Parts: sequence; C-alpha cells; structure tokens
Amino acid sequence: MDRIREVTFKAAREAGSLLRQRLGKVRSIDYKGAFNLVTDVDKASEGLILDILGAEFPDYDVLAEEGGASGGGQERRWLIDPLDGTTNYAHAYPLFCVSIGLEERGKMILGVVFNPVSDELFWAEAGKGAWLHEEQIRVSGITTLSASLLSTGFPPDTRKALDDNMTQFSLLTDLSHGVRRDGSAALDLCFVACGRFDGFWEKKLSAWDTAAGSLIVTEAGGKVTNLTGGPFDMSSGHILATNGLIHDEVTAHLSRVESERAAARPRP
Ligand code: IPD
Ligand code: CA
Ligand code: CA
Repeated sequence: MDRIREVTFKAAREAGSLLRQRLGKVRSIDYKGAFNLVTDVDKASEGLILDILGAEFPDYDVLAEEGGASGGGQERRWLIDPLDGTTNYAHAYPLFCVSIGLEERGKMILGVVFNPVSDELFWAEAGKGAWLHEEQIRVSGITTLSASLLSTGFPPDTRKALDDNMTQFSLLTDLSHGVRRDGSAALDLCFVACGRFDGFWEKKLSAWDTAAGSLIVTEAGGKVTNLTGGPFDMSSGHILATNGLIHDEVTAHLSRVESERAAARPRP
C-alpha cells in the first residue's frame, strides 16, 4: 500500500501544480449541459493523472470525470476528479483541488485530495486514520447545530428543479453559524474532516466528487450518510458528512424538508 500511496500523492501533486500554473489562463471553456463547465485544464489534469497511475498500475479499473469508465472489472478501481471546483477555476477563484480515490471490491481503501493553492494534501487509508500532510486530523468537537459552521453545494442542473437545495440552505443558515457554499465538494469533505466545518451536505454528487473525501471524513472520526441518515451510496450522490455529534440534529431538519416536499407533490 505504501507504493500505491506514494504514486497517488505524486499524481495529485503534479496535477495540482498544473492547475496552479494555468490558473487565470484557461484557454477553452465548454459546457456539459446548460451550466456545467469543463475547461481544457480539466482534461489536461486528467491525462496527467492517468499517465502516472496507469504507468504503475496498468490493470486497475478507472472511473474518471472527463474520460468516463474503463477497465475489465478488476477488484481495484480509481475514482478521479482531475479538477474539483471547475466553476471556481474558470473564474480564477482560487478554491479547487484534485481528488483521487481507490476502491477495492466496492470499498474505499485510499483517498487523496490536494489543494494546490494552500499546498494542503489531505489523505486517508482505510483503518489508518486521516491526515493533512504528516499530521493526523480529526473532526470538530462541536456538539450543537446552533454552534456549528456548515457547507453545502448546488448542483448545476437542479437550480430550478422541484428538489433544489434552497429550502434546506435557508433553514440551516438560520439554525447555525452559517452555511458556506465553497464550490468544491471534495474540499468541503476535507474541511469537515479537519474541523473547519462541522457538517456538509449536497445532493446528486458524482462518485468522483465524494470517493476520496468520504473516506477522509470517516477516518477522521466523522459520520457519512445520505441526507436522512441512511447508508451513503456513492452512486446516488446524496451525502451528509458531519463530525458525528450534530448528525442527528441535521438529519432531523433535512428529513423534515424531504417529507414536507413529498407531501406537497401532486399525486399521480
Ligand atoms: C462540482 C463541485 C461543486 C459541486 C458540484 C460538483 P466539478 O464538481 O464539487 O462543489 O457543488 O455539484 O459538480 O464539476 O467542479 O468537478
Ligand atoms: Ca467534482
Ligand atoms: Ca471536475
């Protein structure tokens, strides 16, 4: 595992330094759907990561945001977001990262998230704790929602959808010290893991957004579920990650919004 970790660090760091070098110099911005941006740098970063990982571990399966799935059903699979925070990046807003997770038979075993602007490398290995560089990290000790700082995100395609996040955002803003919207789900999860945030939720994320960060939160002593407290399913992408202590309080509010919405929906 040591070699795998080293190579993953190298891939994350090299991709991160490419992102840093090209910050403010994006050459092309395309759209995936109406609002979802992709730049030439997302693709260059992914190519670099795949070259580094593929040279050492050619047999592992891959699920990468830009290139999609490849491989022949091996036990191990990389889950790669070459630039998490593309909208920030396209506007030269300096909050973004590289996220690389490795799963084995469907279970996360390694998560690495690198923020090249702050030069922070967050990582976790299953059963071995969560780390920021060489320092072990833990979730916060905040015990109430009213004393907590939260974060959330708004998926590009649900802004006008009936199940958007505005009601939850407004409710939890009133009940806490505030809700940030940072624009990088992988970093949001790392910030829960190291106690900067006490909780983070978002709907409809993709597996590459949450793979590494969800392991980093659980290894830091936090709790990761779906929004109503049930098991987190990486493929459904609804995630609530907290320090564990405020989890029930947050799920109670999020569940109430979900059930009020269901009751208000017209019956077929
Ligand atoms: C996005 C970011 C953002 C989240 C979006 C994601 P991308 O990933 O994680 O914080 O709100 O839902 O799609 O597109 O920048 O890799
Ligand atoms: Ca992402
Ligand atoms: Ca991305």
